[in-house]
Amino acid sequence: MTFSSYASFSVRAALVAMVLASGSNAHLVAYSKGMFCKNDYGTADAPNAAVAISPLWNLTWTDWFLHGKCRQYPPPAGEFLSIPSGGNFTVEIAANRAFTTLSYNGGKATDWPDGKVHPTNWSTNVNDPNYPPTSSGCISSPNLHAHNESDAAGTAFAISYNNNINTVNISDFTVFSVLPNTPYRRIATYQVPNLPACPAGGCLCAWAWIPNHCGQDNMYMNGYRCQVTGATASAKAVASPVPAQWCESDQSQCIIGAKQLSIQYQAQGNNVQLPPGFQKDGSWPSPGYNLKMGFKSGAQTDIFSKATAPVTPNTCPAAATVTVTQTVTITATPK
Ligand SMILES: *[C@@H]1O[C@H](CO)[C@@H](O)[C@H](O)[C@H]1NC(C)=O
Ligand SMILES: *[C@@H]1O[C@H](CO)[C@@H](O)[C@H](O)[C@H]1NC(C)=O
Ligand SMILES: *[C@@H]1O[C@H](CO)[C@@H](O)[C@H](O)[C@H]1NC(C)=O
Ligand SMILES: *[C@@H]1O[C@H](CO)[C@@H](O)[C@H](O)[C@H]1NC(C)=O
Ligand SMILES: *[C@@H]1O[C@H](CO)[C@@H](O)[C@H](O)[C@H]1NC(C)=O
Repeated sequence: MTFSSYASFSVRAALVAMVLASGSNAHLVAYSKGMFCKNDYGTADAPNAAVAISPLWNLTWTDWFLHGKCRQYPPPAGEFLSIPSGGNFTVEIAANRAFTTLSYNGGKATDWPDGKVHPTNWSTNVNDPNYPPTSSGCISSPNLHAHNESDAAGTAFAISYNNNINTVNISDFTVFSVLPNTPYRRIATYQVPNLPACPAGGCLCAWAWIPNHCGQDNMYMNGYRCQVTGATASAKAVASPVPAQWCESDQSQCIIGAKQLSIQYQAQGNNVQLPPGFQKDGSWPSPGYNLKMGFKSGAQTDIFSKATAPVTPNTCPAAATVTVTQTVTITATPK
């Protein structure tokens, strides 16, 4: 082993140890099968993968969309996050893959995203000398940008029926599920409306979170190859989404219908306009996946167009067994 590879190995080992030990600088993402960057920027199994947790702030489209470089690190062929039409699915929100059941047979996973044990209903009202609040008075570990569960801003899943990672864009993704008061615990279960089936090769999904302050304002986003299961042939197509709109104190301003993921705090591509002044809690307006932006809790049932979704190959019933009863030999006649 050369000195330089030894050195980089030690640095890497030290970084991993630091991530596992501290957690206080860590942020969060939804871990699941089918996710991009499950092995960080590589293909070898990476049980401590955590690049997808990093916050997105002041970035260009190339660097924030589906977590930038993570778009180049898809899951293995055929691996999908399964989205049951009309049902629910569960992911694990964590600060590191180590703290989920995707690593170490779940041996480092607890009820919490940081792999630690905290009191039930962990909040800044609970005094724990091991995990004092951050300088802004918020829960420090897990770093969930909130004082308590009811203060957590909400997270969302969106779906795109364009599954080409090279051409897909924010206008293809429709938010189909919102989970209020998350991120908070590791286990997060999202409700699904009656989504139609995906085309051959599945769909693309995205998880997103915009915290309500409690630290630097930023956003979180990651991509997944996903597959809608159990869709009915009569399921309606998902309509083209438009950007969501601030409507905290005027419900008539809420967008009803298919909405895009909200993009904020970036150098490029922001699609949210915030009002001047303060939001009701007294801080600057913060667009999250919650009622302030017109996102109701649970399955988003208002996202469909009137049209029945086109029948795609994977909605067809399995082909019947063909019995060959006759063999015909055709001899082409030369012209
Ligand atoms: C945001 O990024 C741009 C480059 O894209 C840079 O010029 C600018 O200084 C950054 N803004 C802040 C506040 O760091
Ligand atoms: C999710 O779906 C399963 C099976 O349909 C059901 O038993 C369970 O109660 C649902 N969980 C939530 C949180 O909706
Ligand atoms: C935790 O909070 C939930 C509401 O979110 C409440 O129903 C429950 O009683 C609380 N548990 C404890 C131990 O305080
Ligand atoms: C949660 O935190 C918010 C913001 O500090 C506070 O207004 C609210 O009372 C807290 N709720 C609970 C249940 O502690
Ligand atoms: C996606 O849309 C953004 C505008 O939001 C644009 O800047 C970017 O070039 C588009 N990317 C692709 C690959 O179409």
